Amino acid sequence: MFVQILGSAAGGGFPQWNCNCANCAGFRSGSLRAKARTQSSIAISDDGVNWVLCNASPDIRAQLQSFAPMQPGRALRDTGISAIILMDSQIDHTTGLLSLREGCPHQVWCTDMVHEDLSTGFPLFTMLTHWNGGLSWNRIELDRSFTIPACPSLRFTPLPLRSAAPPYSPHRFDPHPGDNIGLIVEDLNTGGKLFYAPGLGKVDAPLLEIMAGSDCLLVDGTMWDDDEMQRRGVGTRTGREMGHLAQNGPGGMLEVLEQLPKPRKVLIHINNTNPILDEDSPERAELGRRKVEVAYDGMSIVL
Ligand code: MLT
Ligand code: MN
Ligand code: ZN
Repeated sequence: MFVQILGSAAGGGFPQWNCNCANCAGFRSGSLRAKARTQSSIAISDDGVNWVLCNASPDIRAQLQSFAPMQPGRALRDTGISAIILMDSQIDHTTGLLSLREGCPHQVWCTDMVHEDLSTGFPLFTMLTHWNGGLSWNRIELDRSFTIPACPSLRFTPLPLRSAAPPYSPHRFDPHPGDNIGLIVEDLNTGGKLFYAPGLGKVDAPLLEIMAGSDCLLVDGTMWDDDEMQRRGVGTRTGREMGHLAQNGPGGMLEVLEQLPKPRKVLIHINNTNPILDEDSPERAELGRRKVEVAYDGMSIVL
């Protein structure tokens, strides 16, 4: 299976347009060695021609332009996007659907909870019906794997993860399974196994076992410290409150990953405040020592 990182940053991207934190300002002034990153999205394919887009970010237009296989040019109007899977209903993972309107109808796979949010609080499913049939919903059942006709050798298994629904969700303060999922993606031909979870607030024993048996982990790299937004003076919310497990500290993502000898470990959905974006930072060196990679836009993984 081919895995293409289209966008490796969290909501806002890096640098974030209105942010002057040490990272964003340092990047603009050239004093920081770091790569710019667009917002959270990957594409997966079993043949390199038909792609499943996982999350549709607000940066989708630039992301498609930066990756030639997503525009195969087989017809006057064409795309390499064969299906779209949504991990949640957050703005950074869904707003790109608006930019894909010219190509409707699209096959969209998401849970009941995400479909409800996107039919009520942020009614993309409803709005887009005005564009050639809009979004065709394929329900993700939480207790079973599914396949997508365009990529027949891939098997997708959803894993409900603990997280908060977005501010516009009708059940914002009443979390439900399916508000946020992780995905196990297996290539039935190569045996390759990916675990993808850009929002991962808690790793329990069953999940740790799934991660241990994967070949590659693409997991939540939002924050280094749980109180990073406060430390950097840009916000009050903690990673935990937003459903993101920070890397540093007791029980943090680095301690979780340390227990897993087999998989390649890659952090994704990096917030612009995270010191690991600075390639010369001690935090980035710490990742290097632990053989933990930081996803970047344009990164390709073959499994
Ligand atoms: C998240 O990952 O917690 C959200 O995407 C935050 C946001 O709205 O940018
Ligand atoms: Mn996000
Ligand atoms: Zn910033």
